[in-house]
Amino acid sequence: MKISIVGCGNWANYTHMPCILKYGKVNIVSCADINAENARDMHEKYNVPLYFADYNEMLEQTNPDAVICLVSENATAKVASDILKHCPVMLEKPPGNTVEETKMIVEASEKSGKNNMVAFNRRFAPVYLRLKEMIAESGYGEIKYINYKFHRIKRHDDNFETTAIHAVDTVKFLAGDDFRRVEIKYQEMPYLGKNVANYYIFFEFVNGIHATAEILVSTGELSEGCEIHTGESIYRASIPMGGNGGGIEYKNASGSHIFISKEEICAYEEHYISQGFYNEHKHFYECLANGMNPGNGAETAIQSVAVCHALKNRESFVGF
Ligand SMILES: NC(=O)c1ccc[n+]([C@@H]2O[C@H](COP(=O)([O-])OP(=O)(O)OC[C@H]3O[C@@H](n4cnc5c(N)ncnc54)[C@H](O)[C@@H]3O)[C@@H](O)[C@H]2O)c1
Repeated sequence: MKISIVGCGNWANYTHMPCILKYGKVNIVSCADINAENARDMHEKYNVPLYFADYNEMLEQTNPDAVICLVSENATAKVASDILKHCPVMLEKPPGNTVEETKMIVEASEKSGKNNMVAFNRRFAPVYLRLKEMIAESGYGEIKYINYKFHRIKRHDDNFETTAIHAVDTVKFLAGDDFRRVEIKYQEMPYLGKNVANYYIFFEFVNGIHATAEILVSTGELSEGCEIHTGESIYRASIPMGGNGGGIEYKNASGSHIFISKEEICAYEEHYISQGFYNEHKHFYECLANGMNPGNGAETAIQSVAVCHALKNRESFVGF
């Protein structure tokens, strides 16, 4: 399979290239970046045969079977929609800054018949896949409440909602249903920078599950995980991140106690494997090779984008 990269910035180099190289069964034929220097650096560092400043030219001239789209957030919807005129695309989150932008990708996919997949890596994180398996064995319909903790260090970016979308989407992934309503409270911290705030979110799902997410941007520890209550059982799980967390703990009211270490769940420490990025690449290529839709398209991100757009605008309620 011939693939191309569009967007040769930090995340492409730090996370996606290692995934592609580890997978090994695809050929990178070209790369493109509006900043030609970044495209040339990727060409030199990874021996990518051809590089371009214009991704449309790249598509015309090198005709890839699929593209990995890793451009800046503001460009993603337009670039991914253009790529879909030619071939399938896996694109970084968020697929759009707004619901309208996200729908642009859905429509481009429908029009060309080419699949798109949003790279929400938590949907492929080994810890969460194992957690979902464990809960499914004990009756998935039993979940009552999910609490998601998303703690960061010095994340004073004024568009932090484009990162917070991970917490929102993961809560939805764990609950396995659509939001019915979402309420948000903000703790503004203007002394840390423009638009810096902690978000406290309450979710009610169509299936009756309730959830909360505490998204704290400036804490003493980089960590992320969840607590899931299923009647008289509790599951605690966290993604290995910055030397913290990893693993799953289960307890129930009858005294049962199980701990599964991060090593038992995933033998690799590298962030791109233990946090799910490698799995999402593998899934994307294997589905395409087998003529299957990889799922996880932009349509599955519309509600999460709507919530993140509300975060940006400091709205306190999102109804669906
Ligand atoms: N999943 C995660 O945990 C995670 C973490 C970090 C970043 N990301 C996402 O990855 C994407 C890239 O982030 P980054 O940190 O690498 O940013 P970056 O700014 O380092 O890289 C983005 C690159 O896209 C290029 N670009 C912008 N517009 C373009 C266009 N129209 N055509 C071609 N190239 C264009 C820029 O020149 C730049 O080189 C973003 O969507 C970001 O949200 C995801």
